[in-house]
Amino acid sequence: EAAIPFHGARQSGLTGPQLPATRLLAFDLPPNSPAADRAALRTLLADWTGLLSATAAGTPPDPRLRGDDGPPRTASLVGLGPALAARLALAVPGGLAEPPAFPGDRLDPARGGGDLLLQLSAADPWTLAVLTELAGAAAHSAGVVPRWSQSGFLPPTRPGATPRNLFGFKDGTANPDEDAARQWVWGPPGPHENATVLVYRRIRMDTAAFAALPAERQEAAMGRRAADGAPLTGTAEHDEPDLYAKHPDGAYVIPATAHVRLTGPRLDGGARMLRRGYGYDDAPDDRGLLFAAFVRDTAQFTRVQSRLAERDALNPFVTHTASAVAYVLPGAPPGTVLGAQLLG
Ligand code: HEM
Repeated sequence: EAAIPFHGARQSGLTGPQLPATRLLAFDLPPNSPAADRAALRTLLADWTGLLSATAAGTPPDPRLRGDDGPPRTASLVGLGPALAARLALAVPGGLAEPPAFPGDRLDPARGGGDLLLQLSAADPWTLAVLTELAGAAAHSAGVVPRWSQSGFLPPTRPGATPRNLFGFKDGTANPDEDAARQWVWGPPGPHENATVLVYRRIRMDTAAFAALPAERQEAAMGRRAADGAPLTGTAEHDEPDLYAKHPDGAYVIPATAHVRLTGPRLDGGARMLRRGYGYDDAPDDRGLLFAAFVRDTAQFTRVQSRLAERDALNPFVTHTASAVAYVLPGAPPGTVLGAQLLG
């Protein structure tokens, strides 16, 4: 399969397919003078650009990344936390507000937030580990300190097919096409049109309890079928869910508390988010979903999560344990460095 180029209008972590192994790394920039902090950030983004572009191009700086089997595929995403952007008075757009607390949240601050967010993805865990080491060394040299890191994975999936989450359902079916994404995911025309905003939630899933439900209860909670991801009102994965369809007894086919009903764009003036989640498995009682949604404004997430927190049929089986928000930089076109627009 073809390499995913690092350089381009958008960052590689959002242009290509989701690679199966991922790691989110969050860092803090200990406060100094704004000028020194900007300089440290500029150095780090230049170092990361060098490392990630050379690796993606098949000319990595470290022999362990060469691969016996040809150059490994990698992709990456860099974002800035709202507090850092404010502290350094960077010209980021609005829409970066942290979501409020929701009922049921059990957020661990040590696993969330951060000044800088780096998502590294690779076709295999070895490449991911080496790339993580090198990116972390660059951060260390720039005086940037690790805050948290989280690894995740996807099941083996045919190219173009939707991966499943640990409840066994296809996850990512109803993502926006390019036209809808231009309106709801990417920034407006101007300096931020290839930038977006990440809302990350680490969501623990009680997979055993969910698996113990009869198949029809699972599908009613989701509003889709487990086997093929089709809505309960349709026959194929990409059929539009019909939220008005009723059974002869008057009950909705897609129940009132079904996840797909509460998250659908109809309740939100058509608003959409681009979801690129991963599974995680950190301990026998701590596995679940690394929910990663890309939006123009975190308010889009907050509206949906407010409804979910109140009545989502998945609630008995899920707990949000960490949260982070980041301004995802536009890509670096060839010959340029990530973040140049903001830092000069
Ligand atoms: C759709 C799973 C949490 C927003 C879906 C679908 C599944 C799913 C299986 C249907 C297939 C698809 O379109 O991708 C889960 C699980 C979650 C979770 C297991 C927690 C562990 C969330 C959260 C949000 C969210 C926290 C946002 C606040 C959405 C949206 C859709 C969706 C916007 C698409 C709805 C549509 O346009 O039809 N989710 N989800 N999900 N989910 Fe979630």
